[in-house]
Parts: sequence; C-alpha cells; structure tokens
Amino acid sequence: MKAVIPAAGFGTRFLPATKAQPKEMLPVYDKPTIQYVIEEAVASGIDDILIVTGRNKRSIEDHFDKSFELEQTLQSAGKDDRLRQVRAITDLADICYVRQKEQKGLGDAIYCAKKHIGGEAFAVLLGDSITKGPTPCTKQLIDVYEKYGASAISLEEVPRDKVERYGIIKGTEVEKDVYKIDKLVEKPLAHQAPSNLAIMGRYVLTGDIFDKIDETEPGVGGEIQLTDALSKLDAIYGNTFEGKTYDIGNRFEWLKTSIEFALDDDESKDALIDYMKSMINKCE
Ligand code: G1P
Repeated sequence: MKAVIPAAGFGTRFLPATKAQPKEMLPVYDKPTIQYVIEEAVASGIDDILIVTGRNKRSIEDHFDKSFELEQTLQSAGKDDRLRQVRAITDLADICYVRQKEQKGLGDAIYCAKKHIGGEAFAVLLGDSITKGPTPCTKQLIDVYEKYGASAISLEEVPRDKVERYGIIKGTEVEKDVYKIDKLVEKPLAHQAPSNLAIMGRYVLTGDIFDKIDETEPGVGGEIQLTDALSKLDAIYGNTFEGKTYDIGNRFEWLKTSIEFALDDDESKDALIDYMKSMINKCE
C-alpha cells in the first residue's frame, strides 16, 4: 500500500514560526514532525510515500534527501552514531513529491495524488499530527480496511467544546472500537455535532475517493473538504485508535508533546523532571 502525506498548508496557527518554514518541519523534541509521520507509515508496512507540498516546503525534500557534505564531515570526524542516524533518514522509504498549486483544501490536496496512486487503496497521514500506540495507528486502519473491504478512518473522542476544530462522525459500533459510519460533518458547531467522535488525521481510502472528491463542491471555509468527499463513499468505517494522537498544529499541544517525548528519553528524563520541579517551585 502507498501513503499520501498532505503537507501544503500555511500553518497559520503557528505563525510566526511557520512564516518561512513548513509546520511539518517543526521539531518535536529531537525530530521534525513529518519524520515521525513517515516512521509511522513505514512501521505500518508502507514504503512508497507521496508528500503533497506547496511553496516554502523545500526543507522537507532536503531533510529526506542525501546530504553528501554532512555525511562526509561526520565520517571524517569519526562521528559514526550521528552518521548512521543521518543515513537512516534517507533510507526510510521511497519518497516522491507533488505540489498542490493552489491551497484549495485537504480534499484538493489528496486529489493531487491521483496519478501516483492509481486505483488502489492507499493511506493518508496528515503531516501535522503524530500518533503513539501499541500498534501504529495506520496499521490498525489497514486491518479494519482488510476486514471490512471499505475505507477506514481513525477516531478519537474529543470534548464537546472542541468539536468545531474537527470532522465529526455519527456511527454504530459494530465491534469493539470499530464503527460503521452513517454521517460525517466537517467542523460542525458544538450544538449541531452528531457526536463527539472526531476524525484524527489518519485514513485508509479506497481508490473511488478520487471520483468523490471530483464531485465535491467547496464546503466549510470555501475549501474542498476531504470529509465531504468521504460522505459520498458507499461504506466507511471508523476505528477508535488504541493510543494517543498529538496535534502539532497547535502551539500548546506541540509544547506538551515535546515535553512528553523528552520524558520518554532516558537521557533527558531526570534532568527535565528536576528542571520542571524547579520551575513549579518558582511559580508557587
Ligand atoms: C483536518 C480534517 C478534519 C480532521 C482534522 C484532524 O482538518 O479536515 O476532518 O478532523 O484534520 O486534525 P484541519 O485540521 O486540517 O483543519
């Protein structure tokens, strides 16, 4: 299976950090966000990845490209660990790029992948969210797709006052954590939301989604919404992901994620706890 990673947005919620830098390249602890996303795709068995980029996105291509000068310098300095790390990034997967010419919405960004994908089912991983769980989120969706033979999307319960930020679904639970979806609404007002189950940025889509996007009129924000195209599919399932999704497009979530990931690293854990304790004392 191939994967598509849309990464063409302006990252306006993260200005000024994203004025000249893609939000997908913002580091979370010690790696750019999009590297975690690609590692999730690879851990799910995918090695052919198409990134949909826009203007100001050259650094994404550079990050996954071979860096001869850097490798040479590390080699001459005998920094073998660093060299291995840098080479591993280049070897992660086959990565191709296509540009979304105009920012016409997530549906339109996915449509840019039509030629590369052909008619097969494919995964979509939004470039500004990271997931962590016992089984990679995308792998869980591939399993649902294979079992039900239909598109599958990842879901998570969100507080009622946050539903306006997400695509929200209404569905019937057909087995533990799996829903057959009847209705999808992009960014509904809180009192109009059909539930508090939100679409969390991971999808496995059947090839007919491209025809559905083609038939989709601009929706919320005047954009071609992927959620509206998903509503037109004959069948779609949702999976409440066993794990956690981190939305990096939001600065407070980004900061919390960096701290959480640093606490997972034995090298920085104790020093960070001491630092946080000292900061709490100072604030009290
Ligand atoms: C997109 C999708 C939305 C989904 C969200 C998850 O919205 O359109 O359905 O819930 O990602 O992060 P965006 O955050 O790009 O506005």
